[in-house]
Amino acid sequence: MNAQKLIDTAKTLVAEGKGLLAMDESNPTCDKRFERLGIPQTVEARRAWRELIVTTPGLGESISGAILFDETIRQQKKDGTPFVTVLTDAGIIPGIKVDAGAKELAAHPGEKITEGLDGLRERLAQYSQMGARFAKWRAVIAPGDAIPSRGCIEANAHALALYAALCQEAGLVPIVEPEVLMDGDHTLERCRVITEEVLRTVFNQLYTQRVLLEGLILKPNMVLPGLTCPRQEGVDEVARATVRSLLWTVPAAVSGIAFLSGGQSAELSSARLNAMNAGFKSRLPWALTFSFSRAIQQPALELWRGEEANVLAAQKALYHRARCNSAARRGQYDAAMERA
Ligand code: G3H
Repeated sequence: MNAQKLIDTAKTLVAEGKGLLAMDESNPTCDKRFERLGIPQTVEARRAWRELIVTTPGLGESISGAILFDETIRQQKKDGTPFVTVLTDAGIIPGIKVDAGAKELAAHPGEKITEGLDGLRERLAQYSQMGARFAKWRAVIAPGDAIPSRGCIEANAHALALYAALCQEAGLVPIVEPEVLMDGDHTLERCRVITEEVLRTVFNQLYTQRVLLEGLILKPNMVLPGLTCPRQEGVDEVARATVRSLLWTVPAAVSGIAFLSGGQSAELSSARLNAMNAGFKSRLPWALTFSFSRAIQQPALELWRGEEANVLAAQKALYHRARCNSAARRGQYDAAMERA
């Protein structure tokens, strides 16, 4: 393991003004989003959408790394240029989602365990040869009546740590993503308690598995009330609660924290990230940035709708969201940017 190379990659991914673009939706998830907008659910439509994203002019000004899916890392532009080359030429580091999805956890009704460890060492070596320099693994924690259980949290934290150690052995920076879901009517306080328990358990496991903390990126949820909770706290309260939970649980050695958007609107995701950086940045030991999928892609996808004629408008929308989040990374986002 080349520790310095891992640290350099991790620091580049969370550099000032930069964040990650998650474009690693599995085929079923991508197809579901296409279906809602009447876009054909085909390999070619997915390829065309990903070509639109990676060829967006100026994307590298705000995006340091793009997380790809297995199908996408193997795809090319219409003219035959591999997406990995297009990204690299734009100054964007290619990454790869390597988990095999969340499946029912035996004996734990309503809870999931992320699979994908079998054969992972070999897959990581292949992805590294294809040009990936970092990887992602997502664990899903659902708040509900009497859940999450210790069994679910520990099993997922253990898998995340084994994955992270294998990534570093292969020279890839692991993005460690334990996501506490927004679905449900739980309060912000309940999300805080669960998030802290999950993060504490994850870092215990990372430590036990000898993962180099400086050579990883944490991808957590923000601390938020559930989507159907009657009380929805304001941007500043969310920022305060999230920063507090991270300070209590994430070691200072970690290079960076890049949030998932998790179903928040594009504007709220930017505003909340901005409030954290504007209010607390000088007191934080790690960089705070974004690793959004829906909060960057969705407005552009709604404009594109599978039509060649809409490509430029969609690319403009994608560029705009990337810029807003870059500003939020600096603590310089303003809602007026949305009208500009
Ligand atoms: O694993 C989840 C994605 O990388 C982030 O997606 O920003 O739409 O929650 P999201």
